[in-house]
Amino acid sequence: MPNIVILGSTGSIGTQTLDVLRRLPSFRVLGLSAGSNYDLLRKQIGEFKPKFASVSKPAHARALTEEFSIPVSSGPESLEELVTDPECDLVVVSVVGAVGLQPTLRALEAGKRVALANKETLVAGGHLVMKYRDQIIPIDSEHSALWSLFSGRKREDVAKIILTASGGPFRTYKGSLSEVTVEQALAHPNWTMGGKISIDSATLMNKGLEVIEAHWLFDFPYSAIDVVVHPESLVHSMIQLNDGTLLAHMGTADMRLPIQYALTYPEVLSPPVEPMDLVKVGRLSFEAVDCERFPSLALAYEAGQAGGEKPIALNAANEEAVAAFLAGRINFTHIPQIVCGVMETFQGKSNPTLEQILAVDKEARLRSRAFMDERGW
Ligand SMILES: NC(=O)c1ccc[n+]([C@@H]2O[C@H](COP(=O)([O-])OP(=O)(O)OC[C@H]3O[C@@H](n4cnc5c(N)ncnc54)[C@H](OP(=O)(O)O)[C@@H]3O)[C@@H](O)[C@H]2O)c1
Repeated sequence: MPNIVILGSTGSIGTQTLDVLRRLPSFRVLGLSAGSNYDLLRKQIGEFKPKFASVSKPAHARALTEEFSIPVSSGPESLEELVTDPECDLVVVSVVGAVGLQPTLRALEAGKRVALANKETLVAGGHLVMKYRDQIIPIDSEHSALWSLFSGRKREDVAKIILTASGGPFRTYKGSLSEVTVEQALAHPNWTMGGKISIDSATLMNKGLEVIEAHWLFDFPYSAIDVVVHPESLVHSMIQLNDGTLLAHMGTADMRLPIQYALTYPEVLSPPVEPMDLVKVGRLSFEAVDCERFPSLALAYEAGQAGGEKPIALNAANEEAVAAFLAGRINFTHIPQIVCGVMETFQGKSNPTLEQILAVDKEARLRSRAFMDERGW
């Protein structure tokens, strides 16, 4: 019976992971962690009866400890305590943002298997995380698809990775992107996700982060990772073999599929959702990315290729800019401007240590806020 700890159990991936686990009685939920959603965490503890939990606010932790008589801790270190517990076998990292990096590294160092949804962790610290290559399995749908496509295949036979992108809510939008509202940007056409990744999907930064994620997970150079827009989101990724032929991974657009695959790998169990019906789908379409309207993808390629401080700065500036957009402080087209302006003030120093990553992350956030202040945003 594998014992699972879920970091970010109250989020979109976290709740879908628990949904998958309702059908997998051989797994035990050992630990749950939330940020500020006390009410949902309380319900989850009542249903799944974990051994321990974590929540951001100390007052919430005290109330839950009292109600359920289990240890509930608070603060960033509490995530590290959960994932290093001797009983823990598998950690699902579904917190959002670079806050996932330290607990992921602690879990890996402690020898745990990690099912990784959090892409910001690989963007900021891919070279540190991938030292533990054999313990990691991705949850992100594109990378889960690639995991499947690479299974049993020689890496040298593959010329190229092709990631598909839905194009987001503004793919065919004719108006000015500087005037779109938060509600419009959050309305993803195919997926229901957390706020930050929804905005990243609208700017196409999400695809940029995924390009960097693919570089680390599959050890491919950026020149061999392409992106193609595929509005139906049914082909999750492709690989191009040396002879030019393409292998595509297709399936229903539902995150519970890659989540279940990551939890049960290498076994492939019956689907937790209705399988894809090709006749009902009818047609699949593909088009080029509009890099002029969506400059974030090119920024991510630039950061990934430069390496060192740049991807850390790209990610931190993007987190700050997206938070500012969601708070109504800036408009949609300011997001890539902030990322670009902040990123160019950092160097491409190679292989930073964890301490250096955390310092660059902190500094990039300060510079992002200063960038906005200077412009009166
Ligand atoms: N959603 C998807 O379909 C999808 C697909 C592929 C990859 N991903 C990746 O998976 C990650 C999670 O995405 P999501 O959409 O599930 O995000 P989400 O819905 O916003 O959930 C984020 C989770 O992290 C928790 N959290 C946030 N800040 C925290 C902090 N400082 N300390 C501890 N916990 C914190 C939140 O807790 P509270 O809600 O309690 O505050 C919540 O449980 C992201 O990296 C995203 O890029 C998501």
